[in-house]
Amino acid sequence: ERELCLTIVVAGASGDLAGKKTYPALQFLFQHGFLPRNVAIIGYARTQLTNQQLRDKLRPRLKGSDKERDDFLGRCTYVAGAYDGADGWNKLAAVLNEREARARFCCQPCGRLYYLALPPSVYPQVCAGLKTYCDDIPPSDGSWLRVIVEKPFGNDLQSSEELSDMLGKLYPEKQLYRIDHYLGKEMAQNLFVMRFANMFLSPVWNRNCISNVQITFKEDFGTQGRGGYFDSFGIIRDVIQNHLMQLLAFVAMEKPLSIHPDDIRDEKVKVLRCIKPVSDHNVVLGAVHDPTVPPGSKTPTFAAVTLFIDNDRWAGVPFVLKAGKALDDRKAEIRVQLRPTPHFVFGGDPETARNELVVRLQPDEAIYLKMIVKRPGLETGDTAISELDLDYGKRYPGVVIPDAYPRLILDAIRGDQQHFVRRDELRAAWAIFTPLLHAVDAGRLPVHPYPYGSRGPEEADELLARAGFVKNREYRWPHAA
Ligand code: BG6
Repeated sequence: ERELCLTIVVAGASGDLAGKKTYPALQFLFQHGFLPRNVAIIGYARTQLTNQQLRDKLRPRLKGSDKERDDFLGRCTYVAGAYDGADGWNKLAAVLNEREARARFCCQPCGRLYYLALPPSVYPQVCAGLKTYCDDIPPSDGSWLRVIVEKPFGNDLQSSEELSDMLGKLYPEKQLYRIDHYLGKEMAQNLFVMRFANMFLSPVWNRNCISNVQITFKEDFGTQGRGGYFDSFGIIRDVIQNHLMQLLAFVAMEKPLSIHPDDIRDEKVKVLRCIKPVSDHNVVLGAVHDPTVPPGSKTPTFAAVTLFIDNDRWAGVPFVLKAGKALDDRKAEIRVQLRPTPHFVFGGDPETARNELVVRLQPDEAIYLKMIVKRPGLETGDTAISELDLDYGKRYPGVVIPDAYPRLILDAIRGDQQHFVRRDELRAAWAIFTPLLHAVDAGRLPVHPYPYGSRGPEEADELLARAGFVKNREYRWPHAA
């Protein structure tokens, strides 16, 4: 196979996201041999920097020995230019063309990846600049051009559709890779396999056996200096509408026709479209006191939302999505609680002794199934809640589970859109939350204050109880922090 001449353009290279996520992810791929030998990474942004200044800025963000960092940084160059007008883009085009001239001469395939590490407000401008001035790639077989964009994709259904329209006019859907980094997490990807590869799960995975589903995201720190951005956004737009909805789609979707990315995404869209917009009484909002948020802000930093999926499999089963910043813990997990066992002939209360399947995405990947067993010993008829436990660290010692970003960038280089959000998926997710978001923005819903480091507002526990969740106060997962 002819070797690919790969060029990655990081637009917004001098910014926070690029330094924190994009470049470290590229370095990971480079170090582990996942990028072709002929790769160049060109940063583009408005800040005036030399190649050396960019490298110095990036170096502390990278991993490994000095030599390893330098090897990678040797591939990184920089072009300064505006996002509007022609000058900057023409400069970039000249660099790209010079680099690809040899490939053009030898009919070598060229891959171009534009990574937009920028606020979405400049996407239309930046995409138009790239399209108009830079998109001339050698027409050899196997050449391609793809664009990675990052959330937030709009802030409600209408603005998101407007953004999609603008981008859609410049790049067709098959060239657009919308990142939701939760799709790059090991356990998110594993949910799909677990559900559809295991016979024992499928007969119980429905309203007959499942009482309620909880998808929880907790962070034990606040908005970390991002108060300005966060204040206009809030936790529903930041985490729930995207990350948690993607997890919900994996929990609830039907089995796709095949594992072709579009077959999978078809099923995700279908299930999202079965969800009605959230009603006010199915929401609890909270706000923590945060010094970086303008005083008087009522932007929720915590939300718990109950959703219902109107289809044969799930009608009547509450899905509670709960997310909060500045709470008592850091974790992300999915908890599927089954109904109580009928005609429970043992001692104890079947209401609280329920099976639960827990998929923990972080901090440490794990899956456990809470099971009722005979209490070990001489007593007869006495039961205990135990677990079938799959702890990834123990079961797969030494296996490096890569971060979401390198995985997703590699998928984009390979042309696999499975773990990227399709336009209709995005639209379906916004449709569910937009009426609620408008009510929140208009201040029509109460926002309960909660102290930093707490469990969030107590009202959320009432919402969970209404959803039928029964907490067993005696059980504790042995690996819990
Ligand atoms: C981002 C949000 O998308 O996801 C952040 O903007 C949040 O507010 C982050 O902290 C959580 O990602 P992770 O991978 O740390 O769970």
